[in-house]
Amino acid sequence: MMKYGVVGVGYFGADLARFMNEFDNAQITMVYDPDNGRAIADELGCREASSLEELVSSGDVDCVIVATPNYLHKEPVLLAAKHKKHVFCEKPIALNYQDCDEMVKACEENGVTFMAGHVMNFFNGVHHAKKLINQGVIGKVLYCHTARNGWEDVQPSISWKKIREKSGGHLYHHIHELDCVQFLMGGMPKSVYMNAANVAHNTPEFGDEDDMLFLNLEFDDNRFAVLEWGSAFRWGEHYVLIQGTKGAIKLDMYHCKGTLRVDGKDSYFLIHENQEEDDDRTRIYTSTEMDGAIQYGKPGKRTPMWLSSIMKKEMKYLNDILHGMQPTEEFIKLLTGEAARAAIATADACTLSVKEKRRVEISEILH
Ligand SMILES: NC(=O)c1ccc[n+]([C@@H]2O[C@H](COP(=O)([O-])OP(=O)(O)OC[C@H]3O[C@@H](n4cnc5c(N)ncnc54)[C@H](O)[C@@H]3O)[C@@H](O)[C@H]2O)c1
Repeated sequence: MMKYGVVGVGYFGADLARFMNEFDNAQITMVYDPDNGRAIADELGCREASSLEELVSSGDVDCVIVATPNYLHKEPVLLAAKHKKHVFCEKPIALNYQDCDEMVKACEENGVTFMAGHVMNFFNGVHHAKKLINQGVIGKVLYCHTARNGWEDVQPSISWKKIREKSGGHLYHHIHELDCVQFLMGGMPKSVYMNAANVAHNTPEFGDEDDMLFLNLEFDDNRFAVLEWGSAFRWGEHYVLIQGTKGAIKLDMYHCKGTLRVDGKDSYFLIHENQEEDDDRTRIYTSTEMDGAIQYGKPGKRTPMWLSSIMKKEMKYLNDILHGMQPTEEFIKLLTGEAARAAIATADACTLSVKEKRRVEISEILH
């Protein structure tokens, strides 16, 4: 039996806990969350810790799952490592490279597993695209283009997710696409250039994050990527488009479907586990459930069908690893700190690029 403590049981942490608890060889023994801990502890029949220290030092916890707001990941990860607990940390791991590096190193030095919660890696469609690339079906990948955008209306309250200092804004909070592109391209870019600004939500009823972001990444060997995010787009889109020398792949999360195009012929595959999940995601994007352009959760809300499904896969993977399973090549970077460091380093390079209005070499961040 692997025993888990969860720090932060709002929207995401509560469902991670529920799903982990479903496995026969896993048990949520403790949660810590000053606002929502009691309710989730009652629901799961586990203990509510009265402090972070109590949870991380408990003999009843083997692994700590960190699902606090983005700016509050560091302390629980460092403390968990210090107490020799394995760690699963939600994305973005940190809001700057130094913190991320410190967190990964703390786990390494204490001999515990660190797993980055980059859940997009568990999409069936991403896995399939990577397989097609590895098999040479679309030739050499020259270019990736991602978009994740829509329009943000005034919300009942301003979430921490819309405050730059707390979430990092779209670049860090929605780091999925950046991580995914680096996964598909096989590593980090050499240099980046980013334009970003708050162009249409610059009034007190909104947060202070940029609502239009355009990243331009240059990889070695004449390969490129352009990524865009934001909440100032009246024409919402969400996709990853991969252009190779022999063909192309589109992972469309909005009209949820994967397409492989070779020799002018299209064939299709699922983005998620089954047609029902893909259709449900399309339904959400085309309904009125959107919240600030991208669907954000809040404590008490349950994750949608497609997301629950990959969270279960992700939790199973973590639990299997802690029970001794060898990491598969596809996911090993989630466990070595490489994916975490690479994503935050590139995001930091982009942040510096906007600040100094210049192209930034990734090596400037890594050194
Ligand atoms: N992988 C994904 O697709 C995905 C989706 C949603 C959220 N997330 C990540 O999960 C994390 C949590 O996001 P969320 O949507 O659940 O946010 P949320 O606001 O719904 O929940 C955050 C919870 O943390 C609690 N909290 C705040 N400060 C705390 C502290 N110091 N110690 C313990 N608990 C504290 C809050 O009371 C709240 O219950 C974030 O890092 C977010 O990026 C990931």
